Amino acid sequence: ALLRDGDRPLEGRTALVTSGPTHEPIDPVRYIANRSSGRQGHAIAAALARLGADVTLVSGPVTIPDPAGVTTIHVERAEEMHDAVLSRLPVDIAVMVAAVADWRVATSSDQKIKKQAGEAPAPLILTENPDILKTVGHHEKRPRVVVGFAAETQDIEENALRKLERKGADLIVANDVSPETGIMGGSRNRVKILSPTGVEAWPDLTKDEVADRLARLIAERLTER
Ligand code: CTP
Ligand code: CA
Repeated sequence: ALLRDGDRPLEGRTALVTSGPTHEPIDPVRYIANRSSGRQGHAIAAALARLGADVTLVSGPVTIPDPAGVTTIHVERAEEMHDAVLSRLPVDIAVMVAAVADWRVATSSDQKIKKQAGEAPAPLILTENPDILKTVGHHEKRPRVVVGFAAETQDIEENALRKLERKGADLIVANDVSPETGIMGGSRNRVKILSPTGVEAWPDLTKDEVADRLARLIAERLTER
């Protein structure tokens, strides 16, 4: 099923995309975050919409604009992102691109934490956040196509393959997010696509190009079966 420019193979399909970082509050003025810009996730949401899908984007705090032709829901914390995603099931396609904080502060404070002169700071106690991709991948309303990302700095394929299995995804987009690659926050991406049948290495592309290719791949998988 080869796609031509202007084809809308996802007409009538629904898609859910997560993007950006999450912010996990320490107190009303401080939070734990990561370097995700949201560019790759937002580009994927836009690319799925261009192929005709009815797309909902659940975005963490980002500075880039909402993509055109997409319904965007803004959240801050991982738990909010989790609830927003689950409340939109069922959908045909789920692409979980967000760099969800793995941990939140267990004892976040309602008031600004004050320093005490000469005293050691109180340690931050962390607790694990819900794994949104894993929940969606094993859900009774599991989307037909579930795609995850694997942000790694070492043993990329091995780690990504484990994520494919553990999270119940159909595809994992693996990338090297080591600081020297400039991928976190940059406009280019170099990914490998892992599925239960093998690994495909894509060339160095812009994040928009990765998004277009991935949207087409998803459309093919959805229309093949
Ligand atoms: N993910 C998610 N919810 C989380 C953590 C991760 O939905 N709480 C999703 C990400 O959006 C991504 C995939 O899971 O699609 C992999 O994220 P990653 O951080 O690479 O994997 P983790 O399972 O969190 O493992 P680790 O960070 O230890 O490598
Ligand atoms: Ca993680």
